Amino acid sequence: MWHDTRVSVTLLVIKFGIRRIRNFRSQSKRVSAASATHSQACTTETMSYTRSVKVVGLYLLRNEADIIETNLRHHFAVGIDEAIVIDNGSADGTLELLANLTEDMPIQLSSEVGPMYQQERVTRMARLATLQGADWLLPIDADEFWVGTGAPLRHVLEETPSEARLLVVELVNFVQSRDVLAAEPGCLASMSMTPERTFGPGGDLPRMVREEEIGFVEIRYTPKCVHRATPDATVSKGNHYAGERGATPTDRITCLHAPLRALSTLTTKLDHGRRAFEDGVPGEASWHVKRWWQMARDGTLDREWEALSYQDGAITVGGRRRELVRDDRLRHTVTDVAPLVRTTAADVHNPTAAMPPAVGAYLLALETVPGWLSMLDFRLLVELDRLQRHYGIGGDLFEIGTYLGKSAILLGHLARLAGDRLTVCDVFEHIELIDQESFPGFNHWYSTLTERAFVEQYQRFHAELPEIIVGASETIDVKQLDRARTCRLVHVDGGHRYDIVRADASTAQQLLSPGGIVAFGGISASHFPGTALAVWELVLGREFTPLCLTGGKLYGTWDAGGVDWSARIDEWVSQERDLGSEIHTLAGWPVRRVFAHERPPVPAEKLVRIPDLEDLPGGASAGEKRPNPSPSPSPSL
Ligand SMILES: C[S@@+](CC[C@H](N)C(=O)[O-])C[C@H]1O[C@@H](n2cnc3c(N)ncnc32)[C@H](O)[C@@H]1O
Repeated sequence: MWHDTRVSVTLLVIKFGIRRIRNFRSQSKRVSAASATHSQACTTETMSYTRSVKVVGLYLLRNEADIIETNLRHHFAVGIDEAIVIDNGSADGTLELLANLTEDMPIQLSSEVGPMYQQERVTRMARLATLQGADWLLPIDADEFWVGTGAPLRHVLEETPSEARLLVVELVNFVQSRDVLAAEPGCLASMSMTPERTFGPGGDLPRMVREEEIGFVEIRYTPKCVHRATPDATVSKGNHYAGERGATPTDRITCLHAPLRALSTLTTKLDHGRRAFEDGVPGEASWHVKRWWQMARDGTLDREWEALSYQDGAITVGGRRRELVRDDRLRHTVTDVAPLVRTTAADVHNPTAAMPPAVGAYLLALETVPGWLSMLDFRLLVELDRLQRHYGIGGDLFEIGTYLGKSAILLGHLARLAGDRLTVCDVFEHIELIDQESFPGFNHWYSTLTERAFVEQYQRFHAELPEIIVGASETIDVKQLDRARTCRLVHVDGGHRYDIVRADASTAQQLLSPGGIVAFGGISASHFPGTALAVWELVLGREFTPLCLTGGKLYGTWDAGGVDWSARIDEWVSQERDLGSEIHTLAGWPVRRVFAHERPPVPAEKLVRIPDLEDLPGGASAGEKRPNPSPSPSPSL
């Protein structure tokens, strides 16, 4: 196994060629000189020091396409010689970008999917780098920009006395402007404020944040570490200083940290929070992400963004201003390398970036809820909802057929965002309400369904339940419910027998107001031919306008409300890099079929395999267990 890696390293050197590395170095040095001019004066020390050190940056990444090139170019400019990078299942184009960047930067790139197992993976990279001759190991997060104070980082490391085994470095948290909602290339440039005063580490910080005495960004983080390379190098969780021996605090290096570079970066933090919460991570561990997750469930996250971002030079905590100070270090750092950065918004493919964080976090969690909502239908429903709000089309949401709530949880988010009501209808465990013909299918697909199981899933994501109608949908009397023309979105995904779908379609038609849209589920399932017959019959009937279809649903309207929906759908598809559409003329209707492109896998020759711990010198244990790493293509969102 080790033999394989050596082959990859040799190949890497051959691939770059001496000339390319030289070009790369001189380019980096020019930027490096610029970076040093922005640093503050350094402290003078007399010391014996090691020259000509090899510094290796270690990166464990997931979904960082907007900033990773800026980050790498900065660190190559100020001092690292090589980078070892593990991409941990990014779905936003990070892996593809990195594969391109291996062409002009000395990067060993690996793809390992599954849980992050941060400590174990970074330790493996550290030990591999040691074996390859590193002197210093610098674990770098994508939102960290390490700088030397008064001299480039590299010079500081070269001049560090050999007794110093581990450098302990302070982090400075930079705060983003409130109007930066989506993380995209260039967004770091407006992170030009830092807290006037910081608190901690230690003490009762969680309480102070919860009770809105201080904002989360005012917390001083536990310092980070630069490690002298040793065969048994072990990187602690998050690379935070954990009392290791031989540690030397230094003020000659600073880690400029951009913890929340846009509102949308809360999405992944919510996902961490959900997992920490559901895995029962105890007490105050991961308290901040668990707190954000709770706020997302309660619908109070918007208020939290005011405490995490600046406006007029201050964050807003509990309705009060907490002052920040101007600090241009991060801004200068990223603008210095900006001329070299080729990543554009078109290279970043992160559908969650444009979604409110709680909705994006549900997309990340979608696989954890059993049911039948595809990621494509999820994204299409979010877009149709956005368009309806854009055009001022109001109304409630209604779903027939919830199963365990996979689609209802999304509709619940969309309803909550607009202050609308969601009503759902299902028979749940009441199989006595199901007709004879439907019974075998019901028994096969929904045999374990209960209302309680639906409620449990729904409450994972929402503090409040929707209105629940327990019963057969074909018995719904819209007039009696007093709900005629009250809805803007109806999802028909219940019984699949022909006459039930016809009845549900009629219910949807009565519920919908002008501009309202219906989505029919199960239109392509061969075991539910009744659904297809009823839906295509509607299309032939000429009163109903079919707009678009996906692999499982057909979307349409009885009254477009003056909106050219087809044009809007075309516009949206053209902006989503991974989506395509084609027009099918169906009984005279031009109907868009929307589909997601398969993402081509990153060529195997661009990837290396990082050996397992037991195949590296230094001992097997590094804190966390993980399954065998498996290089694999990124999942698509
Ligand atoms: C395909 S599943 C719904 C999937 C769900 N929308 C999702 O996103 O996972 C169909 C649901 O319809 C319900 N159902 C079947 N016949 C029904 C009827 N006549 N009235 C109400 N619900 C019905 C079933 O109990 C089942 O939960």
